[in-house]
Amino acid sequence: MLPPFSLYCFFIGRMADEICFFNKDTLIVKAPKRSPLALRMVVLLFALACGVYICLICLRQTRFNDKIRFLNVRVIEEQPCSASGMKNLEIPNVHFPKPKTFSSCGFDGFLKRKVDATRGWCCVALCCTPLSRSDCSDLISAINGSRSSIAEMRFEPSDPRSDGSEVHSSNPKEECGCNPVRFFAILSMQRSGSGWFETLLNSHMNVSSNGEILGAKERRSNVSTIIDMLDKVYNLDFFTSASKNECSAAVGFKWMLNQGVMQHHKEIVQYFNKRGVSAIFLFRRNQLRRMISLLANSYDSQAKILNGTHKSHVHSSREAQILANYKPKVNATLLIHNLKEAEKTIAKALEYFKCTRKIVLYYEDIVSNRTKLVDVQEFLRLPYRELTSSQVKIHSGPLSKQIENWGDIQKAITGTPYESFLNQDYQL
Ligand SMILES: *[C@@H]1O[C@H](CO)[C@@H](O)[C@H](O)[C@H]1NC(C)=O
Ligand SMILES: *[C@@H]1O[C@H](CO)[C@@H](O)[C@H](O)[C@H]1NC(C)=O
Ligand SMILES: *[C@@H]1O[C@H](CO)[C@@H](O)[C@H](O)[C@H]1NC(C)=O
Ligand SMILES: *[C@@H]1O[C@H](CO)[C@@H](O)[C@H](O)[C@H]1NC(C)=O
Ligand SMILES: *[C@@H]1O[C@H](CO)[C@@H](O)[C@H](O)[C@H]1NC(C)=O
Ligand SMILES: *[C@@H]1O[C@H](CO)[C@@H](O)[C@H](O)[C@H]1NC(C)=O
Repeated sequence: MLPPFSLYCFFIGRMADEICFFNKDTLIVKAPKRSPLALRMVVLLFALACGVYICLICLRQTRFNDKIRFLNVRVIEEQPCSASGMKNLEIPNVHFPKPKTFSSCGFDGFLKRKVDATRGWCCVALCCTPLSRSDCSDLISAINGSRSSIAEMRFEPSDPRSDGSEVHSSNPKEECGCNPVRFFAILSMQRSGSGWFETLLNSHMNVSSNGEILGAKERRSNVSTIIDMLDKVYNLDFFTSASKNECSAAVGFKWMLNQGVMQHHKEIVQYFNKRGVSAIFLFRRNQLRRMISLLANSYDSQAKILNGTHKSHVHSSREAQILANYKPKVNATLLIHNLKEAEKTIAKALEYFKCTRKIVLYYEDIVSNRTKLVDVQEFLRLPYRELTSSQVKIHSGPLSKQIENWGDIQKAITGTPYESFLNQDYQL
């Protein structure tokens, strides 16, 4: 199997050399100058051999799925399993998006700045600047006088969830036009540390991860609305607080499995493989801790413990302490069933995306071993940076102090495969 594969990869290399990207939305693949039928047949045969080879790898990997809880980070890079293997070659994992909404700014002041709560972003197309609402309307009317073709003008109040409240202009400067961009999606489940993970990624100047953009139900009412959103994000036509002043090398967003991923997995996998979107799976090993976080967060969405505002993520240990004071009661009868369901969902998701380029991460591993973040940056082919987040972990310390009915839970879980969840602890 190996010799034809490596030979084939040589061909891929040759073809890649022939691919040009210039000033067009689409990429152009120049056909080799001389392509006699015989050569085409050879290429086709190699393609078939490679397809079989790749599928064998995929099959082998699925057998590992039942062991996922015990595995560390695995980086799996492969071409998609697809009968039309040749076609996928033409779409490498590198992109040169040309935003539709792009127009040169024509006004000053897009440097990074700290803003306070009374200001927001004043945006014209993709260009934004921190301003108050009234200054923004002045600016928009001033610009509107001279430029009639601007697609979008708006005022966005500053996002209370944004980390560090730093605002970036998102002007994709001319000099970034030839900067290769990789597409990614963080696929995760609620309360698995994905918010924290995303702030880490966004602390890299070349990364824009746009948050939970498919959280709103109307954006995922059907497959076509989902695909529209994906197109917008990956064409860099979607503006959020994560959009950067610097050249982007990786663009993506955070997507929970229950936000249409599992439901429309077929079309989504197809889209990922077609457009070369890499998946970053982020799960939590200790699903019991996730359950507690879910219960506490859902309680706070009603109770709003912190001065009447609901917070899913906090930036001070005092706030974390206040939130952690609430001890949820876990339904002991349903506990084992719920833990099993969560595990099944994870296994299913990995099965669905088995032939997508992906990395599988566990929250606990990143917490205890920051070199995992090096793996992520390598996966996204980013220049290495120290990644930082100002988020503070809400629930830390032993579980016995976090559950109201600790005795019942201990009894229900002892003697099951989940027993180890009771004792694991870690520090952020
Ligand atoms: C821009 O100007 C046009 C007329 O010149 C007006 O109809 C439109 O509402 C203005 N847009 C904004 C955002 O002010
Ligand atoms: C998908 O949903 C959008 C908005 O809810 C709707 O306009 C559109 O017609 C729907 N498309 C299909 C194929 O159902
Ligand atoms: C990161 O952004 C900087 C500033 O815009 C740019 O000079 C650099 O080329 C970018 N790096 C990558 C890998 O895109
Ligand atoms: C919330 O209330 C505390 C006192 O309980 C106060 O010290 C703090 O400044 C308040 N924070 C906000 C954002 O109002
Ligand atoms: C646990 O959940 C089950 C099923 O929803 C329910 O019948 C039971 O009353 C719950 N137990 C407690 C203690 O809330
Ligand atoms: C930390 O992560 C790196 C990268 O995945 C790995 O090589 C290393 O063995 C890990 N260290 C520990 C102590 O687990």
